[in-house]
Amino acid sequence: MTRGHFPRDAKLVILTGAGVSAESGLGTFRDKGGVWTKYDLAEVATPEGFARDPALVHGFYNARRANAADAAPNAAHHALAKLQAQWPGEVVLITQNVDDLHERAGSDEVIHIHGTLTGALCAACEHRWPAPAQMAPTDTCPACGAETTRPDIVWFGEIPYRMEEIAGHLDTAEVFAAIGTSGQVYPAAGFVEEAAQMGAHTVEINLSEEPTSPFFQERRFGPATAAVPEWVAELLARL
Ligand code: APR
Repeated sequence: MTRGHFPRDAKLVILTGAGVSAESGLGTFRDKGGVWTKYDLAEVATPEGFARDPALVHGFYNARRANAADAAPNAAHHALAKLQAQWPGEVVLITQNVDDLHERAGSDEVIHIHGTLTGALCAACEHRWPAPAQMAPTDTCPACGAETTRPDIVWFGEIPYRMEEIAGHLDTAEVFAAIGTSGQVYPAAGFVEEAAQMGAHTVEINLSEEPTSPFFQERRFGPATAAVPEWVAELLARL
């Protein structure tokens, strides 16, 4: 049974990372063969890298956008969508992932703190619109016409999205779960401490131990497609 004492309508705050999409065929970043073992993040995931070579960066995200479009949500995404639909308390789903697999599994409210591959942003006027499959430096902003379009992705050194809103959720969470994340990138890696300090029951679902593992009261090891449906089934069995 899931450990921890919390009410049947507890507020659940869930953070996902690349590990939740790994079994959909989308690579993680820091595992063996991960994205950052193949690309220099300074070149493709920083504003400086984009300024230096926008074509290289658009090419990197065009390939990731195509991979994500070809991928399918897995049992972990579906289990979390089911939890959002059936849990009587508030369920807040925060993801570091830029794919849309949570949405395609039926999750309708997803907080993408690192942006989304499906979004385009104008660096000049901050207009946002659905990204085309392939973006290029010569694209112009549909609102202001400037050639300053970029993927709507939060790069290293930039401020993640909706942080104030997230702080409020961490302060009122009764359960905080982190699924498939290495806990190495802040501010997301610090969420567990904030939630634990406010008294939340903390749950980690991962394949392996990570630097933030000691902050979790409940740790569930296994591939997300097995461990997440199991956790969700145990939660819903409490109802
Ligand atoms: N099931 C569960 N967990 C898994 C699985 C799986 N099948 N496969 C991998 N994992 C776990 C790994 O053990 C690791 O803890 O997923 C985590 C992946 O870690 P990272 O590759 O660092 O991905 P993530 O934590 O999401 O990275 C955070 O870093 O580069 C930035 O913006 C990028 O959002 C990303 C952020």
